Parts: sequence; C-alpha cells; structure tokens
Amino acid sequence: MLKRVAEGCSTPPIDVRFQPPPSAAHPAPAVDKEKPLLKVRIKGTGSYVPEKIVPNSYFESIVDTSDEWITSRTGIRERRMVVPGQAMSDLAAPASQKALEMAGLDPLDLDLIIIGTSTGDMMSPSTGCLVQHKLGAKNAVAFDINAACPGFIYSLETAVKFIQDGSYKNVLAVGCEIVSTRIDYEDRATCVLFGDGAGAAVLEPAREGQGHILSTHIKSDGDLWELLYVPGGGSWNPPSHEMVDKGLQYVKMQGHEVFKYAVRTMVDSSRKTLEHNGIGPEEVDWLIPHQANMRIMEAVAKRLDIPLEKIIVTVHKYGNASAATIPTALDEAIREGRIKRGDLILACSFGAGFTWGSALFRF
Ligand code: ACO
Repeated sequence: MLKRVAEGCSTPPIDVRFQPPPSAAHPAPAVDKEKPLLKVRIKGTGSYVPEKIVPNSYFESIVDTSDEWITSRTGIRERRMVVPGQAMSDLAAPASQKALEMAGLDPLDLDLIIIGTSTGDMMSPSTGCLVQHKLGAKNAVAFDINAACPGFIYSLETAVKFIQDGSYKNVLAVGCEIVSTRIDYEDRATCVLFGDGAGAAVLEPAREGQGHILSTHIKSDGDLWELLYVPGGGSWNPPSHEMVDKGLQYVKMQGHEVFKYAVRTMVDSSRKTLEHNGIGPEEVDWLIPHQANMRIMEAVAKRLDIPLEKIIVTVHKYGNASAATIPTALDEAIREGRIKRGDLILACSFGAGFTWGSALFRF
C-alpha cells in the first residue's frame, strides 16, 4: 500500500510508526478573549517555480495562435510547467523552506500551515499535511484552502485571524498551483494562459513599530461558478474513462466574462481595503494584482489611480499560476530589493468560485 502511494506521486514513502512531536506536549492554543487583538507581520517569504520553461512559440506548434497574439492580449511570453512526477508539495515545500530561512525559523517552530491551492497532490490527504511531512514541521497543524487564484489572500486572512487572537504564533501561509496539467492543449483560449508555481510567507505577531498587515478582505459569489471551473475528478463527475474522454478534467472558462468580473472585483475589494484603513491610493508603494493578464492588471491600476510603474509584474515569465502569483511576485520583489521593509503593499486577486480578495500591509 505504502509502495503504491510512493509510486503514484513524488512524495517519499512514509514511516508509519507514530513518532510524537519533538516538543513532548505541544500546548493547545489558549485564547484570552479580553486581550486586544495582536498585529501580524510577514517575517519571511519564499517562492519556487519549476525549471521547465515553455515559451509562446510552443503553442504556435499545437494550436492556431501566435506569439504576437498571446503577448499583446495577455502580456505572457513564457511560463513554467512541472514535469511528470512533480506534485504540488514538491513546489510548495521548497518555497516554504526559503520563507522559513528568510524568517530565521526552523520547521519545528511552525504552529500552523495553510496551503491555498485547488490543485493538490491528491484528493486526500491535504497538501498541507504533505508539506508538513516534507518540511518535518512536526509541531504544526496543517490544512488546505480551495479558493482558486485568491488562495494566498484567503490563506493570509486565515493566518492573521489565528495569530491575532493568540491561537498560534508562527504561521506559514502558502499560495501554490499546478494548472498546466488541468488545461486542454487543444483549446487555444485557455492553454496559452496558465503556468505552475508556489509562494509562501511566514507570519508572526508584530512588535510595536514593526510593519504589519493592516487588513485583509475576502469575498465570494457562488452564483458565478460557471464562469470558470473544472467539472471532472470530484464527486460530481468522478474519475472514469468517460469523464476523461469528454475532457471534463480540464479548465472551462468564459474568458470575456471573467475579464470583466476580474477588473470589477479587484477594484471594488481594493477600494474597500484602502477606505477601511483611511489610506489614499497615492500612499501605496506597490500594487501586486493577481497575474492573470497584463491588460487586467493595467485596468485595475488605472481605476485605482495607481501608476503603472508601481505594479509588480511576473506574468510575462510565469503566466497565470493561479494562487501562486501574488506570493511569488512578492517574494521576488523583496529578494530583488524593490520591496523594502516599511513599504506599503496592496495585493488583490480574483478567481474561480467566483472568489476575490485584497490585502493591505506594510512589509
Ligand atoms: N490565439 C489566437 N486567437 C485566440 C486565442 C489564441 N490563443 N484565444 C482566443 N482567440 C480568438 C478567439 O477565438 C476570438 O476569435 P473570434 O473573434 O474569431 O471569435 C478572438 O481571439 C477574440 O477572443 P476574445 O475572447 O474576445 O479575446 P480577448 O481579447 O478577450 O482575450 C483572453 C482572451 C486573453 C482569454 C481574455 O479574455 C482574458 O484574459 N480573460 C480573463 C481570463 C483569466 O484571467 N482567466 C483566469 C482567471 S482565474 C484564474 O487565474 C484561475
């Protein structure tokens, strides 16, 4: 049984003998309801993308498209894709490891791991548990959040809530996705858009004077589920030869409608976040929108009155890697020295569900 698990994915075989966490009794969270809510800060970030680069020219050879069309309509020039055998946790674990290193923490310091993904290694267990296993984060509790592209914003919001009330101290929030295996390479309207990747942030209570997360806002509207969905593989259309023959395992998308709602929801959420904090757009140092399409990002920045030079952009090299786009862009901008401690960052995202959200934080 264990051997089959190991053959089916790249997760290493598991030692079934139960080993108690190294710190003998990991204390249950003790929440003091009288205490004021703690502020939360990002202590470290990390990201990881697969090595395989797929340029636009690849799609010219399989569908009726052109590098010119893809670049001008989306801003995408190339994207990263996994190779057979690479699973979600294979990207999420190294991204998390890098975030822990930047934070100066050991995996055993982690109390909670939250993975925002809709493309986990397996139906069960959660990718959170597999990342916990790969990191050796024995003291943590781990779970996944399926919110599609805003998965990182949802993870961030959840992490903030758990730290704010004193439940947990060191929390890992991850956004990661492998979309390249869920797209129909005969459908030119979707196959050129997506890529794979993972990004992570380690969060902790902020001390007086440190930058912190000012607020996060998340929202969904299930009435819009048919704009973007993957019908096969779950309980509605369980795996079967018929399901695969019909191509139900692939992303179905009404691109034009998604475009409209993407701009509308990201602008609305960002405005609410800014208003909630009494902050004007001119005070924002960096805008990190979900990297789905350059035209969507430019439309959002324009409506928010934020200059285009302030957008952090990775879509040209990574395509739309769903939940991974924001934490990857954040991590790269920090490591390149563009985002510095004290900078004010507005992140916003949208995706299948329909889901959307935004976060405003001082790094
Ligand atoms: N190459 C060449 N032509 C194409 C391609 C392609 N890859 N894809 C579509 N076309 C054609 C269409 O067939 C259509 O042809 P027609 O006029 O003969 O019917 C024409 O281009 C225009 O199609 P539109 O859909 O109107 O093109 P548009 O300018 O809207 O761009 C796009 C399409 C890029 C998909 C855009 O609608 C978009 O980005 N939408 C949002 C998609 C998105 O962000 N999805 C993910 C969101 S959530 C998440 O990240 C998981």
